[in-house]
Amino acid sequence: MIGKKMEEALNGQINAELYSAYLYLSMEAYFGCENLAGFANWMRVQTKEELTHAMKIYDYVADRGGRVILSAIEKPPAKWDSPVSVFEAVYKHEQKVTGLINDLVNLAVEEKDHATNSFLQWFVTEQVEEEDNASTVLGQLNLIKDSPQALFMMDKEMGQRVFTPPATEGE
Ligand code: FEO
Repeated sequence: MIGKKMEEALNGQINAELYSAYLYLSMEAYFGCENLAGFANWMRVQTKEELTHAMKIYDYVADRGGRVILSAIEKPPAKWDSPVSVFEAVYKHEQKVTGLINDLVNLAVEEKDHATNSFLQWFVTEQVEEEDNASTVLGQLNLIKDSPQALFMMDKEMGQRVFTPPATEGE
């Protein structure tokens, strides 16, 4: 049985992951309007990943005899100045999520909740990848600067990203 404090904190993280999905869905809509279908695809894949993160925590809370309580999801921004500003926001957001995961691990240690600590290690590793993905794309966008040709090529590459459910990633 999971403790109340940990249960509440994990419910908060479910909300944060759903907000992440909402944020990336909004970014997909932005790229769709900018005729950057590849970037829009990248965001769709990211949205699906965030939903799996939320559901992973949802299932864990339920498995530990806890109660999932959903709360309102904040409205995400709808406008950005450029693809660079979108990915600056993605990178910043993922760094924030890493902080939230670290806080959860700290709480699990404090509460001597070893099962939750072990469960959260998947997210600790995942956040390394999440930050790396965002900073790689941001770095490439900074490299190409204002070249429409390079952006066009990069959009093609971003269109190649496919969603891989975590269960098939060898978790
Ligand atoms: Fe669920 Fe992008 O971290």
